[in-house]
Formats: sequence, structure tokens, C-alpha cells
Amino acid sequence: MNETQETTIVIFGATGDLTRRKLIPALFNSYGKNRLPDEFRVVGFSRRQLSHEAYREQLRQGMLEFAAEAYDAAKWADFVSHVRYIKGDLNTPVNYANLNQYLQNSEAGAANRLYYMATAPRFFVPIVEQLGAADMVSEDGGWRHVVVEKPFGRDLHSARALNEAIHRVFQEHQVYRIDHYLGKETAQNILYFRFANTIFEPVWNRNYVDNVQITVTESVDVGHRAGYYDQAGVVRDMFQNHLLQLLSLVAMEPPASFAADAIRNEKAKLLTAVRPIDLADTVRAQYDGYCEAEGVAEHSQTPTFAAMRLFADNWRWQGVPFYLRSGKALAKKNTEIIIEFKKPPIIMFEFDEDGFSPNILSLCVQPDEGIHLKFEAKIPDARQTRSVDMEFHYRDSFGDGRLPDAYERLLLDAIKGDASLFTRSDSIEAAWRLMDPILQGWGQRPQASPLAAYASGSWGPAAADALLARDGRVWRHGCGEHD
Ligand code: BG6
Repeated sequence: MNETQETTIVIFGATGDLTRRKLIPALFNSYGKNRLPDEFRVVGFSRRQLSHEAYREQLRQGMLEFAAEAYDAAKWADFVSHVRYIKGDLNTPVNYANLNQYLQNSEAGAANRLYYMATAPRFFVPIVEQLGAADMVSEDGGWRHVVVEKPFGRDLHSARALNEAIHRVFQEHQVYRIDHYLGKETAQNILYFRFANTIFEPVWNRNYVDNVQITVTESVDVGHRAGYYDQAGVVRDMFQNHLLQLLSLVAMEPPASFAADAIRNEKAKLLTAVRPIDLADTVRAQYDGYCEAEGVAEHSQTPTFAAMRLFADNWRWQGVPFYLRSGKALAKKNTEIIIEFKKPPIIMFEFDEDGFSPNILSLCVQPDEGIHLKFEAKIPDARQTRSVDMEFHYRDSFGDGRLPDAYERLLLDAIKGDASLFTRSDSIEAAWRLMDPILQGWGQRPQASPLAAYASGSWGPAAADALLARDGRVWRHGCGEHD
């Protein structure tokens, strides 16, 4: 393969929200850090009639709206000189031929290309097929990578069909299925924390861990995305991808190396070890007022919150419950993973009025990025113990600088050809294999897990607390400020 550095980033869905909100700010920031290839261009492809200039201005407005703190007029002017716009319809073959012609004319010779599908999912297959038909995927000159956005299918069947359609045109090494949670610094840090240290891994198993909790709460409601959301619901929107990816990072076995496939083998192995989830171990709920939002069906049964208990049948985790929950319109935005350790076999101390707490390790993904460890300490001048918190915060240890947005890292990796932080087809299908029966079960046997209600701004339905209470456990909060 040619070693050219010249790279073209083609964005399908160039005038959409994702492009303005995430992709362009990420590329601009990487440009500012000199991380893009020396010779690069961004080509936006969309249906609207726009001049290059009008498109650049649209992107600038997006920067000002979504990433104003990173905006710098002079740097922006340099950056947008690399941006072009081509009008085209995603279903029309001749438009791809034109695009290819345009790209070949702009590229000095052999060049690499990243095709980014920032469109609605119904266009993923047509785009891939058209790229194949227009002979735009062969890697004779430079590499050709394709980035596939979520949602990746809406069930196992459609995810398989999408994988097959992609594999008819691209080889797996060319495909980058994005899950932006994997690009978050703190999600990446889970593997560093586990495998760059020696003291945690020996206790990271059923002998010491009582249970694991993954909480991804959002304070926003469905807002202007109600049309999409009402068709998707929280399981497709958050669990099949983000929560199960976090689960696999926390629970996977150590990979033999930090190479993409070594990591992805272990992640897929973990997901296939998860036992089919019992409907009685699931909770679904909808926030009050959801059905009044524009775009939501009148008596919609779509859950905006879910909680579930699952088990991984392997040597490390046999018998340890994993509790997952996520929802919208909740009290706070918070993503955290709690490792709750077993209590000591004998407690010989008195404890204060808050009770005796087991050791709790909190991996705080956002917004309080860091790690907390709760342990018991002797209260001075007393005989009792009290829980205290040992805290690490990114901002304290690494300065106040903003953590890079997930898309920055993911776009650079897709350009570099590092797929470690992208989801492989087997993991996607394994995740659907777990979620599909829940979605079907809720439809076919609604009484097995009735749709509960919760108030906006609350921590979710009482049923989610009951899911843990029946095991004698409670949801833990380890991240954020403590009293
Ligand atoms: C997206 C979901 O994948 O993740 C959204 O479609 C959700 O519904 C978002 O709000 C949450 O991402 P983040 O990075 O804000 O936690």
C-alpha cells in the first residue's frame, strides 16, 4: 500500500447536526494541535445547494454555537481553507461518480480517504453500496476507511444485515463503528487503571467484589429528538451500545497486548459470557409528560429509563450481579461505575450513625472525571469508624485544561488506522443478542416488567430501587462532591 499522508475526509450528512456539533469542532481542535496529516482536506457532501463559502460559514456558526471556547478566528480561517462542499444525493449513483471525480482532481495522486457516515441510519447501506459501485473503496493508492455512526441496527437481525452489507464492500479492517463513550478519556482510563497498576486486578473478581453498578443518568429530556427517540427508546439508545461497552471494559479479561484485536477479542468474549437476562431482572419506565412531547406517539410505551441485573458466567464473575441503569430527565447528568467490595468477614468496630460501608471504588466517567475510593477510618478520639473518601480528579492532577472531546480522539484513530476504540461486528451482535429478548419480552409479556412512571428530575422509578433492594443492596453514588 502506498505510504501517502495526503488524506481526504469525506463527510456524508455534511449539513447535519453531528457534523456541526461534534465532527468539525473535533477536526478543528486536532488541527490546532497539529495532529491532522500535513496535507488534508474535508469534503462535505449533502443535498443542499451551497457554495464552499456558504458551507464554511454554516460550520463557523456551528463552532460558535457548540464549541465557542475553542474558536479562534485566525486559526479558523486557516482550517476552513481545507474545507470544500459538494452537492449530491445519497441515493444517486451519478453523484458518487462526480464526487469521485472531484476527489481525484483535488488529490495530488494517491491519497487516503476517510468516509464518515454522519447521516440517518437508513442511508448507511445505500452509501456503502454506492461507494462500492463507484469503485471508491479499493486501497491500491491509499487506505479507505469508513466510519459508521450509531445506531448500528435496531435489533440483531438488522445489525447482522448491516454488517453483511458493509462486508460486501469493505473488509473489516476498513470499518470503524463508532461508540463515542469509548473515546471518553475516563472510559479509556478504565483499562489503564486496571492494567497499568498491580494492586487492583488481584481483587477484581468474585472473591472480593460484591456487585458492580453502571449508572448513566442524563438530566436532559428527549427534546427535539423525540421523533427518533420514540422509535428507539433507552435500550437501543444507551444500553446496547454505551452501557454494554462500559461493562465490557470493566469486566473483560486482561488482553495479551494493547493491540486493537487483542482488546476487542476480550471485550467480545465477555459479552458472550453474559447470561441471557431474565425479564424479571429488568425495569422500564417513562418520565411523566413524555407523551406530550412533539414527535412522541400519543400512548407511547417507549421507555426513557431502564435498569437491569445481569451476570457473566465465567471464572472471574460467576455469581456477581452487575446492575445497569440509564435514563433521561433524571436529577443529574452522571456516568459512573461502582465496584462494591465485600464486607470484611468480621466487623469488630463500632461505626457512626451512617453505618458501616463496604469499600467502594467509583470510576467517575463524567462530569466529575476521576476515581474515588471509599474506606473506613478511625474517628479521632473515638472508638468508631467512619467512611472517608480518597479522591483523584483529572483537573487536580493534570491541570484545568479541558479534556478532549471523544470525537477528537476517535477521528484521529480512524485516520491513523487504530481500531481499538471502535466496536467490532462480533461485539455489536453479541450486544444485540442480549438486548433483543428484552425488547421483545417487554412487547410480548408486558406484565413481566410493567412500564413504570417517574417524575422528571427524580432518580427514576421506585422499581429500580426495588431491583436492588430484593438482593439487599442499594444504588451507590460515589462521584461528585461529597458532604
Ligand atoms: C447518544 C444518545 O448516543 O449519547 C443520546 O443517542 C445521549 O440520547 C448521548 O444523550 C449521551 O452522550 P454524552 O456524551 O452526553 O453522555
